Amino acid sequence: MSQPIQIHKGLEEIYVKQTRISLIDGKNGKLYYRGYTIEDLVKHSNYEEVAYLLIFGELPTKEKYEKWINDLSRERKLYSGMKIFLQEIPRWNPPIDVLKSSIASLGLWDQNANDLNMDALYYKVVRILAKAPSIVAAWYRVRRGREIIDPRPDLNSAQNFLYMLTGTEPDLEVADMFDKILILHAEHGMNASAFSGMVTISTLADIYSAVSSAINTLKGPLHGGAAGATLQMLREIGSPEKVEEAVKNKLAKKERIMGFGHRVYKTYDPRAKILKEIAGKLATSGEAKQLYETALKVEETCMELLCKTRRICPNVDFFSGVTYLALGLPEDFPPAIFAMSRLAGWIAHIIEYLQQNRLIRPRAQYVGEIDKKYIPLEERG
Ligand code: CMC
Repeated sequence: MSQPIQIHKGLEEIYVKQTRISLIDGKNGKLYYRGYTIEDLVKHSNYEEVAYLLIFGELPTKEKYEKWINDLSRERKLYSGMKIFLQEIPRWNPPIDVLKSSIASLGLWDQNANDLNMDALYYKVVRILAKAPSIVAAWYRVRRGREIIDPRPDLNSAQNFLYMLTGTEPDLEVADMFDKILILHAEHGMNASAFSGMVTISTLADIYSAVSSAINTLKGPLHGGAAGATLQMLREIGSPEKVEEAVKNKLAKKERIMGFGHRVYKTYDPRAKILKEIAGKLATSGEAKQLYETALKVEETCMELLCKTRRICPNVDFFSGVTYLALGLPEDFPPAIFAMSRLAGWIAHIIEYLQQNRLIRPRAQYVGEIDKKYIPLEERG
């Protein structure tokens, strides 16, 4: 008798590769990139260096770092054809959709797009990482009917992104905080989007296709959309005095508190702790301040009602919506910021998988009928 087939719905608990890229220690609330704690990287490093670390496996030497920074800086400018594309597409499109289409289109400018040799990949990786923030910033401008601003070679990724939004000199302290936000979102192990990138590269498709598969997958509200949902929840609650009643009502109705809970972390997400501090520094006036104070009260209330008792604790999205609001970014920007930062992690997984490649080819158990009689169209009624 044949063994019953086991269906692994959602591929939960299925390991698809060994990895050296990152470790999520959900019990102790720790996250490591290539063995370094996220706290150390946020304190001592920057996004460009972290991206190099994730993709190439170790911190760069001074010489390699300088080359990496120069290469990224040279590649930030958008092709004129890409600017025309951005200016011509309908402005209702959210930035994540514009980013996914634009990154896919980058392959059209690369005659050797299919080359998966490591030397060739280096330049493709540089192109993707450098151009993504320029695309998102350009879309911010185009949607406001403004001219696209060209990047400045003397600015790093975070500074340049903020500069390309407004055309004004970025505040270095704010840019530094934005840099930390990019580090915090750069990688998070195996998940739907990283897996999606791996599926595409496993067919030996080009890296632009693999990366755009990952972005397409991040787009869904079950993956990349919780920061916006948290912001919406905080707006609905309105102010700190209304928190206790609102939270209790939600829980009584079995509604979820957005920005709380995680499949892997069963304690406070270490990224949320750092984001809380950043949000506190950035959200000092207006609606951002009001919502930050509301978030603090939600946190306090839910630490008792959810975290201590049920291990449903603040996740990375709890304070990130308020942080983006304080940075002046529109409501539909968080998934695109998430994606432009997570590119580093996706590329690391894509390259790591390529080095041990096996075509990803799962099975589906057929439960339909067989040997049905074909009925011609005119006899089907
Ligand atoms: N608020 C209230 N109750 C919750 C919450 C929450 N945020 N999250 C889980 N629960 C309850 C849920 O109602 C269920 O209760 P019961 O057993 O009585 O039916 C129980 O906890 C288990 O729920 P689950 O969906 O099976 O748990 P999970 O660990 O698979 O959920 C989650 C993870 C992230 C989908 C969920 O916590 C959630 O929906 N959170 C809110 C949305 C959110 O913040 N998402 C961002 C995730 S972090 C992004 C990332 O790191 O990639």
